[in-house]
Amino acid sequence: MATPIRKALFPAAGLGTRFLPATKAQPKEMLVLVDKPIIQYGVEEAVQSGVPNIVIVTGRGKNAIEDHFDVAVELESFLEQRGKTAQLEEIRKITRQLNVAYVRQGEPLGLGHAVLVAKNLIGEEPFAVILGDDVIDANPPALKQMIDVYQRVGGPVIAVERVPDEDIPSYGIVAVEDSGAEGGDLGRGVHRVKDLVEKPRREDAPSNLGIIGRYILTPDIFPALEATASDRTGEIQLTNGLRRLLRERPLYVYEIEGVRHDTGNKLGFLKALVYFAMRRPDLAEPFRRYLESLDLKIGVET
Ligand code: UTP
Repeated sequence: MATPIRKALFPAAGLGTRFLPATKAQPKEMLVLVDKPIIQYGVEEAVQSGVPNIVIVTGRGKNAIEDHFDVAVELESFLEQRGKTAQLEEIRKITRQLNVAYVRQGEPLGLGHAVLVAKNLIGEEPFAVILGDDVIDANPPALKQMIDVYQRVGGPVIAVERVPDEDIPSYGIVAVEDSGAEGGDLGRGVHRVKDLVEKPRREDAPSNLGIIGRYILTPDIFPALEATASDRTGEIQLTNGLRRLLRERPLYVYEIEGVRHDTGNKLGFLKALVYFAMRRPDLAEPFRRYLESLDLKIGVET
């Protein structure tokens, strides 16, 4: 039986430049989908997957994340006095089930570097990485599915999704072994990795399996990342660290069953907003009526 996954790492030190000016004084992880900041969706997924120990990699200007997961004494007593029990329960839920630790990434030197700065907090055990930008509606939760695969294959598991050709240059892309007989043994949607390449040109991509924001990693990723050089943009890419690790051990990918939204870009964020509003029993009907009433031919004047 593989070692249990007890910790989930949330890299959240990126600058969120695609959302400027909204992210000038506010972390993009705190942008709101209906009534919850984006990062809370990922944290709840970890808790629902049996992983209540959260490690968040932050940077300058990210204090709102720490405040959000901290106990808000004044707010709680205010809600208590006013008898606002539902709201009180809602905000207590955020802090009660969690154990959160923070580590700073002094400079945003890439996702691989963000994982590396958490080395001491993770220690010598396997762990999950969740990129909060990817909000996944799934049952069982996406991370739970990943953990189940990890328990079966006993090695690192990377979440992938088949992406449209035009999106290939925005993803880490994996080449996988023919899932003939072995694919069958590994189970639905699980493949063994042959190679990984970060943001290839469309014509150079070995497949359309794009890496998305969920990983189960083993502690040997740390020396692999330490040995990984920065790329042309000065960043240490997690994909390149995984490529190095692949020389030493088998890696697996898994196609998650669920609906993923990439809230890290504006269109993806807007789609997620509509999607999650429509999942709320109190909002779905009036919101649908509103959407239907819109004159969708309104366009940008040219
Ligand atoms: P992205 O490249 O999507 O996020 O990183 P970004 O840099 O915040 O946003 P843009 O591209 O400027 O709009 C993916 C994830 O990795 C984290 C980000 O916070 C995000 O969750 N990250 C990225 C770090 O923690 N540190 C880094 O140095 C880079």
